[in-house]
Amino acid sequence: MKSRVFVTRVIPEKGLEMLRQHADIEVWQEPLPPPYQILIEKTRGRDGLLCLLTDRIDAGFIAALGPQVKVISQMAVGVDNIDVAAATARGIPVGNTPGVLTDTTADFAWALLMAAARRVVEGDRFTRSGRWKTWGPIDFLGPDISGATLGIIGFGRIGQGMAKRARGFDMRILYFDRTRKPEAEREYGATFTGLDDLLRESDFVSLHTDLSPKTYHLMNDVRLGKMKQGGILINTARGPVVDPAALYRALSSRSIACAALDVTEPEPIDRNDPLLSLDNIIITPHIASASHQTRTRMATMAAANLIAGLKGEPLPNCVNPQVYSMIAK
Ligand code: DGY
Repeated sequence: MKSRVFVTRVIPEKGLEMLRQHADIEVWQEPLPPPYQILIEKTRGRDGLLCLLTDRIDAGFIAALGPQVKVISQMAVGVDNIDVAAATARGIPVGNTPGVLTDTTADFAWALLMAAARRVVEGDRFTRSGRWKTWGPIDFLGPDISGATLGIIGFGRIGQGMAKRARGFDMRILYFDRTRKPEAEREYGATFTGLDDLLRESDFVSLHTDLSPKTYHLMNDVRLGKMKQGGILINTARGPVVDPAALYRALSSRSIACAALDVTEPEPIDRNDPLLSLDNIIITPHIASASHQTRTRMATMAAANLIAGLKGEPLPNCVNPQVYSMIAK
């Protein structure tokens, strides 16, 4: 008998095709994610789940799954929506999709950096509103990117992707990470610094950390206050790495010049959120990995993880490989 799988949204067809060859799949067809209770009901009797970062896979959800469940496969690299410890305790492998979205996400972070510095979105709004009357010698001034200092917080794959792009702009590159990365330092000409020094010296600060209790509201009043006056903050990591109230204070007092966010807390941002009243912020709807090619690669990788899990094989990309030693015991 074929395994039974629930897929929490329509994903690129190639991923679904792969799944259909190995399992009976039900795909949630609505544009919004399944509500929590429905997600539980749909997954309870099934062998596997393919989920997205918009699904809450917490300890309660994992406890509600039946004994037959073999795998949870997420179509994303970040898994902060999943209680991985609870899945591990039940011996359920959790898959993710690292690597395939590195360049696409770094491209987008770079696009935000350039758009923020050169006021692309403001300029577009200005033009559309009919206010463009002449060429203005002191209008829409922003900082140069070439030769400026970029501070990268989180120097993993995507952070290093930012450094690679920054080299082409002759930037000075600083980075902060839990661990020093000497090889990447050499490759990208990046300098390891303490967080405070990075904030003080960077014209642009780009966030590339995962979300954990340690990075929750990492950018708070104190740290935003350490950024250069005129500094620009880019966040393509996870929304809660930045305290939104503190960011509002920093932007409205112009203690920093601008922020460009692809991720917010919460997601989606409330349409009445004070941040949306500011003109010195760009907010996009968590689309940094949204290229045709990358989303297809993410879908096929998530499908490959799921299929391996259904067959009882190790997932090609597993965030909790310790489940295998538990199973072996
Ligand atoms: C991820 O994979 O974690 C990204 O945030 C999706 O864009």
